[in-house]
Parts: sequence; structure tokens; C-alpha cells
Amino acid sequence: MEQRAQEELLSLFRDAMKVGGAAIEMRLRRFVSLVRPFDEALAKAVAPLVTGTRSLRREPPEIAQPVDADTKLPLVRVEHPTPGRATPLLSPSLQAEVDRIVHERRSADRLAAAGLMPVRSVLMSGPPGVGKTMTAGWLAQRLDLPLYTLDLASVMSSFLGKTGANVRSVLNHAQERPCVLLLDEFDSIAKRRDDDTDVGELKRLVTVILQTIDDWTPTSLLVAATNHGELLDQAVWRRFDVTLPFDMPAREQRAALLSSRDVVRPVAEAVAAVTDRIPLSALSRAVDTARKQALLEGREFEEALISWAASAMPQTTGSTRTTTKGRRDIDVYLHHCRGLSARDIAELVGTSHMTVVRIVKRLKGEIDAGA
Ligand SMILES: Nc1ncnc2c1ncn2[C@@H]1O[C@H](COP(=O)(O)OP(=O)(O)OP(=O)(O)O)[C@@H](O)[C@H]1O
Ligand SMILES: [Mg+2]
Repeated sequence: MEQRAQEELLSLFRDAMKVGGAAIEMRLRRFVSLVRPFDEALAKAVAPLVTGTRSLRREPPEIAQPVDADTKLPLVRVEHPTPGRATPLLSPSLQAEVDRIVHERRSADRLAAAGLMPVRSVLMSGPPGVGKTMTAGWLAQRLDLPLYTLDLASVMSSFLGKTGANVRSVLNHAQERPCVLLLDEFDSIAKRRDDDTDVGELKRLVTVILQTIDDWTPTSLLVAATNHGELLDQAVWRRFDVTLPFDMPAREQRAALLSSRDVVRPVAEAVAAVTDRIPLSALSRAVDTARKQALLEGREFEEALISWAASAMPQTTGSTRTTTKGRRDIDVYLHHCRGLSARDIAELVGTSHMTVVRIVKRLKGEIDAGA
């Protein structure tokens, strides 16, 4: 089955399993057995979804997640990441670090036999929308562990007497059973400890959290994420076994994301070339929007995406001479979509008529990307 269709199908099944119920589970099992003779890979991808929910059901929710002592409301978001999730696109150095974490955690027994511990704590820092949360979920999936997410910003903003007790209970709970605990918006709690606007109780809580990171048991993986690494002092950074600095995506990552979303290569490359400083989350949303525009407004998908890219460029294009190749390509294509002749476009962007014809053909996928 085509990969995107398979991802959609898996996501549909996951949603169905959230609703749950014996009937859905039975039908899903039946689907697996029916499809296996024709599509072994699909059967393999779907089977764990059923198993995953079963094991989830074996544990009553009150044991599976920490709750507020008074209200019984859950203190964390619990997910059981299942196979079939999209893989985060990371820079080679970040990917190597993430792979090392997985390798160490999977080899915990061998390391323990030699008196060594696997990575226990990770600090992810970087701008919004670059894949920190996604990578935490992906780590949980690779390690076959539930993902607990505690949003520290909302915890701290409504700081009441019992917040400290709740945070402690989450930390204790996460150490008692194997999981990946994501402390999101970590900077909201681990601010510089010399910040004297902090009230005493908050300060004590910060101290407890920092102490917990120091003594974290290797059973679970602690992942902290922040958009404001600069707010954390060096003593906090040093406490983590691994630090993962997420950066704005490089051009190759932007192109890879667009390709993974089925954007044809020349368009993916032209768009990637002009979307410097745009996070992958925004690119991903732009693809969705362009597809909807294509469907509802009768526009061409490529034209809608390229128009978005042009508007996202630092300076919008006009009759000015283009500075980069990708930018020139975008200009040419947009003028073409507006109905200008190749000759007029050539004059506007300062290139030859033949080049304009070639760029348009390339972006339309009519000739090879290299041409
Ligand atoms: N590295 C990446 N690879 C693939 N997709 C990505 C990547 N980064 C972001 N995305 C897309 O953007 C969405 C949002 O990313 P994510 O929530 O992981 O960002 P974040 O770094 O945690 O942002 P924030 O700091 O705002 O929490 C993802 O679900 C995915 O669709
Ligand atoms: Mg996030």
C-alpha cells in the first residue's frame, strides 16, 4: 500500500481504538487476519495497535496515571505512542545523539552488568515548532514506553499550595514505572535560581525538581523541553545526561519534510530554498492549507504552496532582481501563474527566455529536477 495511504489508515485505526470497545477491537483483528495474506507489511503495522490497547486496558486508569488527590483529575497527559508515527527529521548530529539514547536504553542490562547506566535525562532546547515534542513521542515509541507529559507552564501559572505536592507525585510516579516523562516548558520552573521574584514555596519546588533530576532512576527516561534555554543557568544544564540543541531546520530538512508530504521534488526544493528560518511545523501546516485550497478553491496545489512560500519570504518578490536561485524560481513560477509571457518574465527577473521556460517546466515536473 502507498505509504501516505497507509499512514492515514493507521491513524484512522488509532482513532478508532481510542473509542475502543470489543466490537472495534474484533473488527481490527479480523482486518489483520484478512489483509495478512496480501499485505504482510500492513498487517504487521496494524497488529501492534490492537495489542497496545489491550495492555492499556489491563491497567486501570487510576493506577496508570497520577491524579490530583482531591479532584481525582489526571495530572499528566498519558499517551501510548504506537508504530506508524511519522519520524522526526533531524540534523545528522542530532539524529546521532537520539539514536545513541535509544541504543543505550535498549542495552540497559548490558550496561548495568558492566556497572554503567544508560542515559537517564535529556534536555531539549530550541525554537517552537522544530520537533522537540515530536521527538519525545518518537523516543517513547522506539522504547515501547508510555509518554507522560507534564506542562510546567500551566502548572506554574496556577501555582497553589498543592501544586508542589502534585508535581512531586508526578515525579515519583514516573520513577516507579517505566515511562518517558516529558517536562514541557521546562524554563517556567527552572528559572535562574537567583530570580528573587520567586516566592519561597516555588523556590523549594524548583530545588526538589533539580534534586530529582540528579537522583533520577534509570528505569524511566526524563525529557525536559524548553524554548528558552537561555533562561536556564549552567548548573541546570549540567544536571542532564544529554542536551539536544534543536535548531531551525536546514534547507535539506525542509526539502525532506515537503517530500515526505508528497510535494514533487522540484517544488519541494524551490520552496525549501526560500523558507529559511521557517520551522517545520509551519511548513507542514502550509502543505495542509495548500491541499485544502486546491480542493476547495480549484487552485493548483503547487501554485498555492508556492504563493505561500513567496509570502513567507523575508522580502516579497516583485520586479526586483532575484538574489537566490530558489527565490528566482519562485518568482518565475508566480509570474507564470499570473499569466505573464515567458519573455515578460525573463525581463522582469533579469534572466533569459530559455531559463524561464526551463524553470516553469521543472517546477511543473515536466522535465528532470537537474535540468
Ligand atoms: N523535526 C521535525 N520533523 C518532522 N516534522 C516536524 C519536525 N518539527 C516539527 N514538525 C512538525 O511540526 C509539528 C509540531 O512540532 P513539535 O510540537 O514537535 O514542535 P516543538 O519543537 O515541540 O514546538 P514547541 O516548542 O512549540 O513545543 C509536528 O507535529 C510535525 O508535524
Ligand atoms: Mg513542544
